[in-house]
Amino acid sequence: MGMLDHWHPIFPSQKLKRGKTAGLQLAGSLICLYRTAEGAVAAVNDVCPHRRLKLSYGRVVGDRIECKYHGWTFDACGNGESPSTPKLHTCTDAYDTREAHGYIWVKSKASTPEFPEINADNYYHLGNFHHVVPAPLELTVDNFNEIEHSGTVHDTFGYDLARMHEVKVNFEPTDATVKVTNVGPTKTLFKPLAWVLGIRKGDLFHDHWTTHFSPVYSVYDHWWTSPDGSRESMMRWRLYMFFWPIDGDRTAVTSFVYAKSRFPGPAGGLRISKWIFRREVDREVRQDIAMLEHMADKNPSIDGMKLSRFDRVLGLTRERIQRIYRGIPAGRIPLTL
Ligand code: FES
Ligand SMILES: [Fe+2]
Repeated sequence: MGMLDHWHPIFPSQKLKRGKTAGLQLAGSLICLYRTAEGAVAAVNDVCPHRRLKLSYGRVVGDRIECKYHGWTFDACGNGESPSTPKLHTCTDAYDTREAHGYIWVKSKASTPEFPEINADNYYHLGNFHHVVPAPLELTVDNFNEIEHSGTVHDTFGYDLARMHEVKVNFEPTDATVKVTNVGPTKTLFKPLAWVLGIRKGDLFHDHWTTHFSPVYSVYDHWWTSPDGSRESMMRWRLYMFFWPIDGDRTAVTSFVYAKSRFPGPAGGLRISKWIFRREVDREVRQDIAMLEHMADKNPSIDGMKLSRFDRVLGLTRERIQRIYRGIPAGRIPLTL
């Protein structure tokens, strides 16, 4: 399988109105989205086969997208017609589409991968986020797959830098996934937030995640306990973060964020306070992006890096990104888009 053969969440459903188009890039391929007359999402190559105008610059006519340059039209399967040359056979690539969890997902027509399951029963949906990281896929995944940086980069989710050496990290790779579990002394949170969450100085922060590679995404669980485990924080988080290359230099991070609260009231108070936690998640991701913006070298190879005990995950994820996501036998071909 190649990169386009996996299901990717590429655009918020509600942003694609009928009669409108959206032009996107996924793994270097240009994709035009529009809705057919019935409202179904169509995804076709955003390059008109005639003279390469972007189809997303055109308009929707019934079930077809009409190129603005010379009026050739294409249906959701990519079958084209030319007004000037009716007998000319032309077509363009089309993609399978699906709408789920508030997003439009696409993949190539040829593949049959499993659709990534989002399991957040008993959690409250805080929202979906879309961020663009100015770094290649591997470096982006590296960032979101280690917590050594949490002592310095983050305000809420992470470990006390002075006690980072106490943090226990455990790796459980399988052929298709990499699970990482971390536990250690939490960093000091903003006092009102710590009070609301029921977190005291010296409590343990638990950060578990499993990374999958068809497509590339990590599922995180965050929570806190007292050092002896008898008391748990009032809230837990579950995040699904999908990492997909826009091109060789930029990676999209599409997040589906959930939380669970033990406070009384509708959704444990999350319904009225969700804007605070939405802002918090957005801020934390932007703090990660700032690090990736300032990398001195964005070569995704780990050769020459001096890696720490938290970084074993880098090699594990690279091997699976190469083999499962890119469909390239690991180690044979240099890491490129
Ligand atoms: S470039 Fe699209 S119709 Fe000519
Ligand atoms: Fe981070």
